[in-house]
Amino acid sequence: MDAMIETKGLRKEFGDLVAVNDVSITVKKGEVFGFLGPNGAGKSTTINMLITMLPITAGSGSVAGWDVAKDPDRIRASIGVIMQTNSLEPELTTRENLEYYGRLNHMGPADIPDAVCEVLNVVGLTNKADELVKNLSGGMKRRLEIARSFLHRPGLIFMDEPTTGLDPQTKQAIWRYIRHLNKDQGLTIFLTTHYMEEADALCDRLAIIDHGRIIAEGTPAELKDMIGEGDIIDISLDNEEDDRFAAIAKELGMTARSHEGRLRLHTDRGEERIPDLMAACAGKVHIRSIALHEPTLEDVFIHFTGRSMRE
Ligand SMILES: Nc1ncnc2c1ncn2[C@@H]1O[C@H](COP(=O)(O)OP(=O)(O)O)[C@@H](O)[C@H]1O
Ligand SMILES: [Mg+2]
Repeated sequence: MDAMIETKGLRKEFGDLVAVNDVSITVKKGEVFGFLGPNGAGKSTTINMLITMLPITAGSGSVAGWDVAKDPDRIRASIGVIMQTNSLEPELTTRENLEYYGRLNHMGPADIPDAVCEVLNVVGLTNKADELVKNLSGGMKRRLEIARSFLHRPGLIFMDEPTTGLDPQTKQAIWRYIRHLNKDQGLTIFLTTHYMEEADALCDRLAIIDHGRIIAEGTPAELKDMIGEGDIIDISLDNEEDDRFAAIAKELGMTARSHEGRLRLHTDRGEERIPDLMAACAGKVHIRSIALHEPTLEDVFIHFTGRSMRE
């Protein structure tokens, strides 16, 4: 089975609201696939339909080869889930939480202790095994949820906003564990996020979702290529010399456009064009600052929706 998740025209209505609209995706075995979109885009609703917690309104979906409408039990046995909100038992210890979950998932009692040791080791929580969960930090709780999600050896894990609310350092640690589950444990991962850096850092492929619809899909590099060539150079000038600068850029084969009070150039090999620009401007136009960046997924979102994802 090559496709771990496949949906066709997936749709969810809540009364008049269409929360998920005509979503068709294929997630292959071994991939980290992401849904990137702002709050309210329909990410959690999609996950909840795929994990069979929410009935679908129209379309179809299969997970691990089973139909979401017909085989919920089979799907639930084949997947691990990390929900957007923490669902650990605060009054139990780390180990007890895992044991409890193993029993809920019909693991053989004899298999549970070894599995618990192993997953605790993977997420670096062995020394917290006997700590009450209510005493763990936010990052440790998330690591415990990651450990729990693959205790019963599923082939596929759903993670709804796995790092939301965590500080940058903890976020990096969670990214390492997610990569480890994918690369070393061979798990397929479907995750949602509203952090473009996270989608960029973790996903082999992703879909950008807005108002329930997929607006673009591809690898991070393919998505960035969709908005135009190469690099972006932002320039600010000391004086009102935009026209003179634009003429110089034109001689070098580049088009300068106004962008948030500065001038922006799209070009290939930006790092090689900067010295050319500096030389051509010398004695004619005074450059105050010059910045080079590659397009980000935020630029992709703006390109397709006309607004920033942060708004
Ligand atoms: N149970 C529900 N009843 C009514 N509306 C809902 C329900 N769950 C989600 N919604 C609405 O559906 C839209 C998508 O929500 P959601 O999937 O949670 O977005 P995301 O996870 O991308 O932030 C939002 O407008 C939200 O208010
Ligand atoms: Mg959500």
